[in-house]
This record gives sequence, C-alpha cells and structure tokens, in this order.
Amino acid sequence: MEFPRHLLELETLTRAQIEALLGLAGTFKRERARARSGEAGPDRRGLLRGRTIVTLFFENSTRTRSSFEVAARALGADVLSFQKEASSVAKGESLEDTVRNLDAIGADALVLRHPAAGAPRLVARAVKASVVNAGDGAHEHPTQGLLDALSLRERWGTLEGKTVAIVGDIAHSRVARSNIHCLTKLGARVRVGGPSTLIPLGIEKLGCTVAKTLREALTSADAVMALRIQNERIADARLPGARDYARTWGLNARTLEMLPQGALVLHPGPVNRGVELSSDVLDGPRSLVMDQVDSGVAVRMATLALCLRAEVAA
Ligand code: CP
Repeated sequence: MEFPRHLLELETLTRAQIEALLGLAGTFKRERARARSGEAGPDRRGLLRGRTIVTLFFENSTRTRSSFEVAARALGADVLSFQKEASSVAKGESLEDTVRNLDAIGADALVLRHPAAGAPRLVARAVKASVVNAGDGAHEHPTQGLLDALSLRERWGTLEGKTVAIVGDIAHSRVARSNIHCLTKLGARVRVGGPSTLIPLGIEKLGCTVAKTLREALTSADAVMALRIQNERIADARLPGARDYARTWGLNARTLEMLPQGALVLHPGPVNRGVELSSDVLDGPRSLVMDQVDSGVAVRMATLALCLRAEVAA
C-alpha cells in the first residue's frame, strides 16, 4: 500500500490508505498515553530528524496548527510557523510565490490552511515539498475527518454498520465533507441535518442521506457530530439566529433523549457553548470532544510520517 506524498483530500484516498494511516495513528496515540503516565516507549524523534515542516495558516486556528506543530516536533522535525501578517504576503506577494520561496529555503512539508477551496492542490503543483491540507474553504479538512474516525474506531472497534449523524451548517463545512468521505469509506452510514438553508442541494451524491428534523437525524444514530454555526456569516438573512438554531437543532439534555443510550457526541471545535452544544453535553460523559483533540496529534504525526516516507518500525 503506497500512501500519497500530499494529503489534499479524503475523497480520493482508498479505504486501505485510510486504514493504514489510522493504524499508525492509533499506535502513536497509545504511545503518547503511555508516555504521559510515565511508561517508557519508543523515541519517535528520529523519524523526521533533519526535516523542516512549515505551517502556513491563512485562517485562524487553535487545534489544527498547534497539533501539527506538536506532531512534527514529536517526530524530531524542525518547525517553522509562517505568520501571514508578519510576512511579505502583507506586501502583496502571491501564495504561489510565497510557497516557492519556502520550498527554496528547504521546506520538506507545507501544512496549509487557506480560505480558497483548491489552494493546497495549486500549491502542490508549484513545490517539491509535500503538501498537507489543513482546511481549504468549504472543500475538505482531511486530518479532521481522520481524527474523528480514529476516536470513533477506538470506541467501537469498527465503523462498519454504524450510523453517524452530522448536524449543523453543512453548506459551509469542510469538516462535513471530509467526514462523509471518510466514514462512508470505512463502512458507516452518514445522515446530515440542519436548517434547510444550510443543506447544500445534491449533498446526497457524496453518499449520505438528509434528515429534515433533529429527531429524524438522531433516531437510532450511534453518534452525532455537531458542527459550528458560523457566526461570521450569521448576518446573512437566510441563516437562523443563534437562539433559533439552539432551539431547533442544538444538542442539550432534552434533545439528547432522542439519541439511543450510549450514543456518542462529537464536535470539531471551536464550540459555541449554548448554541450547537449545551455545556452539560459538551462536558458530559458522552462527549468525545477532548479525545478528538488528542487523536488530532496522533493523526497528524501519522500524516507527516507517511507523506514524508519516514521509516516507522511498529
Ligand atoms: N477543528 C479545527 O479545525 O479547529 P481549529 O480551527 O482551531 O484548527
């Protein structure tokens, strides 16, 4: 099984490639947990020693940038955190010229978040370095889809035959697209639901079904993933206000009763507390949210190791 040199999207990854990455990420996650409890384990800092990883985020991030940087350092790489505001982008330098210069400086991998869908593919054509998509517009956020799958697979053993509901702003969500591709390739059924103005026409073509109400989305689901209502777009008259959204699509102690006992709750973050999730649900026993963040470091270690052809001994 060959893994691609660039991770641009999950749509074109095979199930075998996804499973190989999740297997390696699971190993890294267990090793990190053992190390935190003081147990000795393999030192992975030789895997990318001497390699340089550049993180370029043209949109804000807490989880993704931090965890890629922690992951790169855990593998022994040097990390260069490109700051758009302090760079020559502020003087008008284009994205393509920027990445060509970082390539010439010696970057081995560029981890790119950009508001334009397709920007990582454009960059991959312009550079010798590996390119990892850390979220491009409303297209994909592949490592988010992978880390969600890792957290679910650890709980269930397999995703085969499971039903996952994805609820919220599907129209603007790269997380929804990556999750639909990843979960269906791994054998799960995906239902999406949300206010009708936030469900894109033809989304079923990606292999999911559409639920018209929260009850329809949650009934018999094994897990629900709530997506952020994008407050930056809330001025748009077609979108519901936060209060309306919380009343009809928010997850709280009352609406959680629509889910089977034991079903899990996920959210990629950042969470608008009291809108997509009430605090008791976010911080409650069914929530996988902090475990998702933990999976993120391991998935990003595995992504960098595979894209950069590190020789990993199990
Ligand atoms: N889930 C996610 O992408 O979070 P950040 O925007 O904080 O990276």
